[in-house]
Amino acid sequence: MTTTEIQNPTAAGSGSAATDKFKNERVSADTSPERVAAIAKDALAALNQVILDHGVTYPEYRVLKQWLIDVGEGGEWPLFLDVFIEHSVEEVLARSRKGTKGSIEGPYYVADAPELPSVCELPMRDVDRKETVLVFSGQVTDLDGNGLDSAIVELWHADADGYYSQFADHLPEWNLRGKIITDSEGRYEITTIQPAPYQIPTDGPTGAFIEAQNGHPWRPAHLHLIVSAPGKESVTTQLYFDGGEWLDSDVAMATKPELILSPTAGDDGKNHVTYNFTLDPAGE
Ligand code: BEZ
Ligand code: FE
Repeated sequence: MTTTEIQNPTAAGSGSAATDKFKNERVSADTSPERVAAIAKDALAALNQVILDHGVTYPEYRVLKQWLIDVGEGGEWPLFLDVFIEHSVEEVLARSRKGTKGSIEGPYYVADAPELPSVCELPMRDVDRKETVLVFSGQVTDLDGNGLDSAIVELWHADADGYYSQFADHLPEWNLRGKIITDSEGRYEITTIQPAPYQIPTDGPTGAFIEAQNGHPWRPAHLHLIVSAPGKESVTTQLYFDGGEWLDSDVAMATKPELILSPTAGDDGKNHVTYNFTLDPAGE
């Protein structure tokens, strides 16, 4: 980690920013009333069973109510759900996928990042440039290995202090975020920096929950990506770094062996790595 002077983003700050962003999205699902009823019934039954199994008392029940209120008032539901629940939803999606493995999106995706050409550098500050540079290249293909024209690689990640732009006031709006338009064969070469491990904010109710389980709040260093192309199923994923801290104990349970990069140090003083993405056909 660097020792740059920064204002630490609080859970309340980054949590409520994530909630505001999420509320601006229009969400819907074509779930039948019967399916909603079945899921709701099973969810309630599972929770009631936990209460019976553990002999939960009235004071404990009231503490739970207060904690649920605190998560909502602190704007931490996107944070909490994406840490503890999203990986299971992603596992369901993965059942029908043959291409590149997906991973969770997390709460810090922001649409409409600046468009960049296939060979590019992500927007970054001078202070970011002092970190280890990572040159990340590869190709987006279909399941048969054909390069995909007009593919898009959206990339966002934390800086060397573990902070995401738009969720920490000291960072420029689009720092370390970009929407890379690949060349006609789906190729790209993106210059960025090695991200640091990310710590879930610990100063709010999500942090209290982690502490209550004697857990740790860390995610291994990672790149976030959404890769898409016309007529193909887009993949939301993350890439991790071989040997990285917290790789085996990610608080969000979102790592997969297929998603680990092994960059090599080049003579130019930069780390270089290639990773290719394979997209499934749309609608299968
Ligand atoms: C992430 O940055 O990957 C993340 C952050 C909070 C919850 C889940 C994922
Ligand atoms: Fe992340």
